[in-house]
Amino acid sequence: MTATVEVESSDEPQASGLQFPPGFVWGAATASYQIEGAANEDGRGPSIWDTFSRTPGRVFAGHTGDVACDHYHRYVDDVALMAGLGLGAYRFTVAWPRIQPDGTGPVNVRGLDFYDRLTDELIGKGIDPVVTLYHWDLPQTLQDRGGWTNRETAEAFAEYAQIVYARLGDRVKTWTTLNEPWCSAYLGYGNGVHAPGIQDPAQAFQAVHHLLLGHGLAAQALRSAGAQTLSITLNPTAVAPLDPGNPADVAAARIVDGVGNRVFLEPLFRGAYPQDVLEIMGRFTDLSHIRDGDEAIINAPIDVLGINYYTPTYVSAQPGQPAALDTPGSEGIAFRKPVGPVTDIGWQIEPGALTRLLNRIHDDYGVPMMITENGAAYLTGPSAGTGEVEDLERVDYFDSHLRACLDAISHGVDLRGYFAWSLLDNFEWAEGYRMRFGLVHVDYTTQQRLPKRSAKWYSEVIARNGLEGTGTAG
Ligand code: FCB
Repeated sequence: MTATVEVESSDEPQASGLQFPPGFVWGAATASYQIEGAANEDGRGPSIWDTFSRTPGRVFAGHTGDVACDHYHRYVDDVALMAGLGLGAYRFTVAWPRIQPDGTGPVNVRGLDFYDRLTDELIGKGIDPVVTLYHWDLPQTLQDRGGWTNRETAEAFAEYAQIVYARLGDRVKTWTTLNEPWCSAYLGYGNGVHAPGIQDPAQAFQAVHHLLLGHGLAAQALRSAGAQTLSITLNPTAVAPLDPGNPADVAAARIVDGVGNRVFLEPLFRGAYPQDVLEIMGRFTDLSHIRDGDEAIINAPIDVLGINYYTPTYVSAQPGQPAALDTPGSEGIAFRKPVGPVTDIGWQIEPGALTRLLNRIHDDYGVPMMITENGAAYLTGPSAGTGEVEDLERVDYFDSHLRACLDAISHGVDLRGYFAWSLLDNFEWAEGYRMRFGLVHVDYTTQQRLPKRSAKWYSEVIARNGLEGTGTAG
């Protein structure tokens, strides 16, 4: 497939064919609990991830985010690092428990102060702050009242969003409500691999709805407060039938697409849950948590859809197979184990699946998109000889996925930007610190940062607004 993108402006360097559109946003992403540390400082309240990571057996080797990358204290140096890489934008998350330690009620001004300083530091270095309001660190007090299974959490989220907007809205243009509600709902309440660690399909579906409702309420509130660019970040499953010629496999993929993708995309962009998904949800709950008018709220207009992509999913029909807990309703469906090549976290590498995913969402919903996360876990550390981190596998991963983006752009996808996951090695949720996704290596003993080979490569891509090569993406 050819990835030729015409670049019109005459004072731009000649397009090589692997050039991104003018104005394409280049960034890196992080999330509050994964990097900040300072868990008990300046009035921050406990989050569900503090509780979860302290529960024996939940997180690899009992790791917690107490210190993480100590970014809370090192943000000035970290922003300097970003500037050194030439990042145009930085996607970070505001930690709700820093702003409202109990999830509702009194505002902790010192929490807002931190993000205010960070925002100014970024802008001062010419880096556009892209704010995500929720990346999984729900205030524990809200979880004690049912968390995302409780409608009040959605209302509380909208209130919290307005508090943050009131402080940063004069400088922050792009506002993302939620990061990957699929994970919050299905990993948090479905298979319990993430906080709060519950295994109950009914609660998972209630969480799906209240997350979406929280998004819609927040989007409405932020819009009327004047927010410029609104978005939500999803991690749509790039699901395909193992045998596209087998109607039973195709039907299996349709179910997984429904429970994983259309359950979010349809109410967001068409204002209604799809009938087949309502039927699946109805097997587990009486649906009374979905009230008249909710879908219209969820359908609040947004400007750009954030896409996080790492790996594809292949499914086949397999009678007798119990449901995967992260996909309620998937009885009789087998999820194929990843086949090589895989990254060090065991995720199959398939850039073409990203192209298919972007093309499909574009064709079905016609919405502008931004890759808000894409990256790879490799454990490569500093080499004994040079002291450098030669993470060439990560360079290959980024390169091939950026080519996949160019393929999608040539298909007509309105792709506005790309955020590498992640700026820094960090706390990788249930995997703790053993998985490393960073462009920049972090030594957790000394907190020393060391840009990897991939960071240098990425900064060249940014400077060039494109990849090196002949223009034939593979
Ligand atoms: C995504 C999360 C992000 C990170 C990457 C590897 O699902 O949004 O925080 O853990 O996976």
